[in-house]
Amino acid sequence: MHSSQAFIISLAGLLATVSGFQIGPLLSTCVDACQRGCIEIRKVQEARERGDDASVVLKDVSDPRSALTVADSVAQKIIVGSLRSHWGNDLSIVGEEDDDEDLANEISKLIDENAFDKLDTTLFDDDLGETADIDPCDITVFVDPLDGTREFVEGRLENCQVLVGIAIDGEAVAGAVGIPFPAGNLTDAETVVYGLADFGTGVKGTPLRRGPYPLDKHIDGLKFPRPHHATGDSSAEVMEASRKAAIKRFGGSNVIYGGAGNKILAAALGEVTCSIQHKIGGPWDLCAPEAILKGMGGRMTDMFGNDIEIYKTGDDAVDRCNERGYIASPPGSEEHFHQALANALMNCPEVQEYKKEVMGE
Ligand SMILES: *[C@@H]1O[C@H](CO)[C@@H](O)[C@H](O)[C@H]1NC(C)=O
Repeated sequence: MHSSQAFIISLAGLLATVSGFQIGPLLSTCVDACQRGCIEIRKVQEARERGDDASVVLKDVSDPRSALTVADSVAQKIIVGSLRSHWGNDLSIVGEEDDDEDLANEISKLIDENAFDKLDTTLFDDDLGETADIDPCDITVFVDPLDGTREFVEGRLENCQVLVGIAIDGEAVAGAVGIPFPAGNLTDAETVVYGLADFGTGVKGTPLRRGPYPLDKHIDGLKFPRPHHATGDSSAEVMEASRKAAIKRFGGSNVIYGGAGNKILAAALGEVTCSIQHKIGGPWDLCAPEAILKGMGGRMTDMFGNDIEIYKTGDDAVDRCNERGYIASPPGSEEHFHQALANALMNCPEVQEYKKEVMGE
């Protein structure tokens, strides 16, 4: 993985050629906001571990799952609130929890009250050169305050992520992936992995201790030979067929990973040989992880092998794009691996059928 020094150099290289909008300061604020989101989620977990019902207010008292809503909304509040406070209304920010009107009103009120601390703009500020001309209208920041919600509720904390991605002109360009619980509990402080597509990546906070497993993985006495193809636990036909197709084509075994960002980061770090998912929540699930995967040199397409189009907004937005899913493959994969995998999936009748349905063909 590239050091942050290398990242800074490559970022400066980009701006030398683009001579445009200062993506350095924008990404810096996203990293800061992402870290604040992680800290808020850790506080919810701390309260949860103390059994402090007053601080983990369940939205629905009869439903323990609604604790997640608290973690989601506190993170959304600080991330979207801080970014909007900082950049004003010119910057389009799309959050997973935007539909929550009470939350949106609360955020607006806090912004009016100047309740948010200034974000750090200086993480990459050294040599980034002139201000450039990326039109703010072309930029969308996608926020998933808590990716892997089920993971949080069910206590697989290491799979939770906070995603803040920057899309420009419908492409994932840069992003911050926050890991609130790098050790799977509160022992290690949060980590933020950040990156710029095709240039480089770095880490702020607790160093990442993840990477390829040296040997075949063993879980509950079962052996999972490499290569590992990561998917969620969906039993949808299209996924069952995809798992079989990947194993038939490349051998190895299917390993279950929770969380979209977590699956993509696992591919980026070479922990698995690919990650496949047929359906995601929205662009906020993919933007930051895709930028980081590409910053590390990995590849990502939709599950049919086409470019990801989910970041398009307004009139350009593509219908049912979240159901095109994704395939993510690691840096340094053998040449043509990604395409061969996409071909293997597309050879399944179930995937062809699914594609027809989703693409309306
Ligand atoms: C946190 O998890 C690590 C393993 O990732 C373990 O070694 C440590 O004991 C755990 N700490 C607590 C407080 O449970």
